[in-house]
This record gives sequence, C-alpha cells and structure tokens, in this order.
Amino acid sequence: MRKVSRMAIATTCLFLLACNAGPNKTNVELVQDMMDQISVKAQDWDSESKDQSTAMLPPENSVARGKAPYKYTTDPLGAESHLKNPLANDMSADILKLGKTNYEIYCMVCHGEAGGGDGPVAEKMALRPPALVTDKVKGFKDGRIFHIITAGQGVMGSYASQITDKNKRWAIVNYIRTLQKKSGE
Ligand code: HEC
Repeated sequence: MRKVSRMAIATTCLFLLACNAGPNKTNVELVQDMMDQISVKAQDWDSESKDQSTAMLPPENSVARGKAPYKYTTDPLGAESHLKNPLANDMSADILKLGKTNYEIYCMVCHGEAGGGDGPVAEKMALRPPALVTDKVKGFKDGRIFHIITAGQGVMGSYASQITDKNKRWAIVNYIRTLQKKSGE
C-alpha cells in the first residue's frame, strides 16, 4: 500500500515537472494531439481553402438568426395580394398615434402633412412625390402600401432599415387611411 502511494506521488511529480517548462515558457505538451487539432482557429490561415483564409462567406441563401427574408422585394402585386395587415381596422388612438408619429418622421417631408404630395422638400424634387390621398392609392390594398415602405417604388427608396419594426409600418398604413378619409370629406 505504502509502495503504491509513493509510486503515485513520484509519478505525479514527474508529470508536473515534465509539463511545466518554467515561468514564461510554453509548457511541454505530453499529449500532442491536444494541440494539433484539425479545426482551424479564427483569423488563422487554412492551407486547404482557396485563398488560404479561414474567414468564409455564409453559403448562398443563408438567413441570419432572428431575421426573416422579405419575399416580395420585386413583386409588389404578390405583396398586395398576400400580405395581411395585422392591424387591419385597428383605428385605436394608440395605433393612429404610432402611425402619425412615424409618418411625420419618415414620410411627411415628401408626401406632405395631409398626404397631398406637398411636403417641404417636394418642390425641390425633379420627380414630385405623388399625393397619397388619390383614388389610385386609396385603391391599393394595405399590403401594397406596406410593400412600398418596405421595398420602395421607383425613385422612392426602401424605408425598411429605418422603420425596422413592422408594426410601425402597418400603423403608418392605417394612418394614411385616415388622411385619405379626411381628404374625401
Ligand atoms: C424623399 C421623398 C420621399 C419620402 C421621404 C417618402 N416617399 Fe413615398 N414616394 C416618393 C416618390 C418620389 C414616389 C414616386 C416614386 C415612383 O413611382 O417612381 C413615392 C411613391 C410612394 C407611394 C406610391 C404612390 C403612387 O401613386 O404610386 C406610396 C404609397 C408612398 N410613396 C408612401 C410613402 C410612405 C408611407 C413613406 C414614409 C414611410 C414615404 N412614401 C416616404 C418620395 C418619397
């Protein structure tokens, strides 16, 4: 028994001595396989890859976690017929306030306070922003207006990166409906 424990202590000491190369020195690795792994380290080079870089682009059609791709970027009619307004008919004070606030931040400069196409920058634009209280836009289904905010139309750019919350986009649509109603009165 005594012999065994002496052996164990001696082996442990030897092991520690062998591994520890001293202060500020790389330790001696007895089991080399632990160091030489097949996985590549970030920012390291990779002899197997085409340009020897370990940094790779995500495969085509990858979708970032928590993001859903917008299916209708080039398909306004698809958007119009498939996208349903989750706030349809919700003309509550809270939703209209949300819509008005965001309309006044993002749309009013061009389309005007009452949607008449006469915002402060409109007259300086070569292609005047259209009014949103026309029969044409009244005839757009909610999904079409949501689509124009999301993907833009012609010279009007997309507002998806500014208005990231989709609820806000739908609230703007509802608010535009109130402007259209007012203009017809
Ligand atoms: C920088 C000016 C500008 C801003 C800001 C802007 N738009 Fe536009 N919008 C335009 C122009 C210009 C067009 C016409 C584009 C075209 O068809 O070539 C347009 C077109 C539209 C149309 C289609 C109208 C039609 O008759 O076809 C809708 C709907 C619309 N905008 C809604 C919005 C909403 C909602 C916002 C705010 C989120 C907004 N726009 C912000 C300039 C702007």
